[in-house]
Formats: sequence, C-alpha cells, structure tokens
Amino acid sequence: MRTLTVAVCGYGNRGSIYATGESWFGSAMKVVAAADIRPERLALAKERHHLPDDRLFASGEEMLQKPRMADLMVISTQDQQHCAHAIAALEQGYHLLLEKPISTTLENCLAIAKKAKEVHRTVLVCHVLRYSPLYTKLREMIREGKVGDVYAVDQIENVGYYHMAHSFVRGNWHSKEESAPMILAKSCHDLDILPWLVGKKVKRLSSFGHLSHFTSEHAPAGSAERCLDCAVRMNCPYDAVHLYYEGNPEFSIKTAHNTEWPVNVLCTEPTEEKVLDALRFGPYGQCAYRCHNDVVDHQTVNLECEDDVTITFSMVAFTDRCTRTIQIMGTRGQINADMDNDYVTYRPFKGEPVQVPLDTAGIQGGSHGGSDYRMMEALLDHFAQYPEANGFLDAGDVLVPEVDPPVCVIDDTLRSHIACFAAEDSRLEHGKLMELNL
Ligand SMILES: NC(=O)c1ccc[n+]([C@@H]2O[C@H](COP(=O)([O-])OP(=O)(O)OC[C@H]3O[C@@H](n4cnc5c(N)ncnc54)[C@H](O)[C@@H]3O)[C@@H](O)[C@H]2O)c1
Repeated sequence: MRTLTVAVCGYGNRGSIYATGESWFGSAMKVVAAADIRPERLALAKERHHLPDDRLFASGEEMLQKPRMADLMVISTQDQQHCAHAIAALEQGYHLLLEKPISTTLENCLAIAKKAKEVHRTVLVCHVLRYSPLYTKLREMIREGKVGDVYAVDQIENVGYYHMAHSFVRGNWHSKEESAPMILAKSCHDLDILPWLVGKKVKRLSSFGHLSHFTSEHAPAGSAERCLDCAVRMNCPYDAVHLYYEGNPEFSIKTAHNTEWPVNVLCTEPTEEKVLDALRFGPYGQCAYRCHNDVVDHQTVNLECEDDVTITFSMVAFTDRCTRTIQIMGTRGQINADMDNDYVTYRPFKGEPVQVPLDTAGIQGGSHGGSDYRMMEALLDHFAQYPEANGFLDAGDVLVPEVDPPVCVIDDTLRSHIACFAAEDSRLEHGKLMELNL
C-alpha cells in the first residue's frame, strides 16, 4: 500500500491524535510536516514524527506559503481559523481532513465546499461518530429492519458537568464570538448523526436553550476569582483544584496520576508544578461562575424528517458522565444504547431483550469510543483508491466514495451545519419553526 503523507496544521489535542495514525497503521501513513504557534507542541511533533527542522512551521500560514509537501493536510486549528487554513491548503493542492465545525459561518462553510470542487480535492470532515462502533452498529440494525419502521429517535448528549466547566465555561469554546455557538461547536455531531442514522432528510426544526447556571449571579457566597484562593471550593462541584490537581480520582494529576485530557490542555507534558502554575495564572484556574462565558448550558432541538420521522435531541451540561444515550423506536422493537458501553440493547416487542456487542476489534487508541481510530482507518482505505500525479495523490475520478458506510465528505456534512445554524436562529427566536428540507 502507498504511504499517505500528512501535514498537520495545528498540532494540538486533535491534530496530535490524528497524527498517531502513523503508529496505528504502520507504513500506510507518515506525518511529514507540522505547524503550530506553540513551540512546545512543535517540539512534541518533531520528537514523535522525527521531523527535520525545515518541516516544522511556526504557524499554518507559514507552512501554507510553501509548495505542497504532503498528500493530505489535517486542519485542526481552532474553529474560527478553519476557513482561512482550509482554503489556502486547497489552493496549494492538498486533500483535507478538516476538523468540525467546518467553519463558524454558513458562508465560510459553503466557500470551502466550493473551493474543493473548483480544485478537485477531497475534504473529509471529522464527524467521527459516523465511524464509531456504536453508530455503525445502530445504522446496520436499522437498515436490517430489526425494529421495523423507525418513527422516533431520542438522543441526549450528556456533556458531563466537568467537561462543561472545562471546555465550554473556562476553555476554548466558552464564547460564541471566539469559537461558535454550542449547538455547532458541540452538537454538530448530533445533528449530523441522527438524520444519517434514520436515512431521512430534515424538513423542519425548532430549538430552545439557555445559559442558566454558569453566570456570576450563581457564584457561591464567599467564592473567589480563582479556585486556588477560594474558601468555599470544597462545596463546589466545579472546583478546578479538585478536577485538575488533587482529589478527582479519574482526572487529577496528583490523585489519579493523569497526564492526559483534561490536564494536558492546561500545559504540555503536564507535571504537578505546571498544573499548579496553570491554575494560578491560566483560564482553567478561574471560578466557573466568573468566566465571561456565553454559550448555553442546555439546549433541545426537535426535528421533523420526511416520512413522519421525528427526532428529539438534548444537549445538557448537568450530567455526571460525558456520554451520549440514545433510544431508537420502531414499529417492531426498540434499541437503547449508551456510548460508554460496548454493546447495544435490542428489545424486540415479541421476544426477549438481547445485548448486541459492538465491533471494537483492533482499535488501538484515540477517543470517542473508537471513532477516531475507525475514521483514520476509513480515511486510509479511501485515499488508497486515488491515483498518483507528480509525487502526490491526485483526485482522479474518485471523488465520490463507494464504500458503505461512506466516508464523511464535505457536501454531505453541510446539511448538519445548515441545521445547526437554523437551530441557533430558532433558539434565539424562542423556538421559532425553521423550514429546511435538507
Ligand atoms: N471531531 C471532534 O470530535 C472534535 C473534538 C474536539 C475538538 N474538535 C475540534 O478540533 C479543533 C481543534 O481542537 P483541539 O481540542 O485540538 O484544540 P487545541 O487548542 O488543542 O489545538 C489547536 C492547535 O492549533 C494551534 N494553532 C493556533 N493558531 C495556529 C496557527 N495560526 N497555525 C497553526 N497552529 C495554530 C494551537 O496552538 C493548538 O495547538 C477545533 O476546531 C475543535 O472544535 C473536534
């Protein structure tokens, strides 16, 4: 198999996960260049992929001034940067693996899709759930008619109280202006996967949601600007010292000896000292009620699809775990699933409930219940079909994937983004009905 060469624009959390494909899939993939504005991330990329100095760039902009140096570019910078990086990379001839959201405005999303067509390049969007053992199994069972005709689906995105505080109150996605509305930043996966599962177009939707809790009015009496200085943090579930430093049995560096997510977002190659420093001076040490955040902490979307199928979706911060739970309701049975499990429960109306195992064989790493790994696997299979021209993969005629389930190309993904923008407009207009026909 030809080795797919990859340049990474934004060697942060996500970029470095996709780059790990190099060790998951042996010679099928090689990272040949990386760009990041943080020197410590570049140093990590250099060490992990044995990159020479002339293949390390202090920004995506700098890397994109150079002629094409890989088959594919991973665009894993922050939401607001995707559009400029993606368009420049397409112009240089790269195929793209583009992080979601495609971009933060509909106009920019459409511009990237248009540019990809013009230059005959493929843009795969990281809707990782499409590749997950869970959702591929659910889609297969629905298609086999296990539950008869599906008329209703109900999904909850359990954000997790700690994940909400980390990413959407203190962290990168706390502000609509700086990143994107919550429905796009967090739930574009859901508005993508649910119509995809039932194979129906969305006709109309409406949405409600609020930022209710993480506001200064809810700051506990006696609390301080930073958790390290707070006299009442012991009673607060959003205490950053407990989460990142000491006390949390799963995530804290001192108690759980965790150096992965979320502490590796506070600092590169975390140590106790570095984490304390980040809590003292950085955004992740702030009181969760004083973060100038504006994205919602709960939101619901109701979707009406063709053939009378209805979908209800809720994103909720106030859950103990970070997972997705789903109930699929058909005329002959129902399916219940939780992304934390490695099985789904199939309940035929005539017959006993059965636990159906998921196919997790061979998954070596990544997150999202094996989705990251499976996505990279599908990506390598997909590009293996492309012809080579001038030392790089061309597009040839292989722009439309023929495998099932297909890889997630940008044109397909645009539908979920249009639904997200409509849901946000609906929410802002107190649940106004939005006609879509996607
Ligand atoms: N597919 C998913 O499920 C999923 C999950 C989480 C995040 N995301 C998305 O992935 C993207 C990256 O998120 P992340 O968690 O990895 O964030 P991150 O902050 O860890 O990574 C972004 C990286 O980009 C670097 N950067 C900033 N400006 C740059 C520039 N001009 N040139 C090059 N590099 C630059 C930053 O230093 C950082 O290392 C976001 O768009 C986010 O919404 C997707």
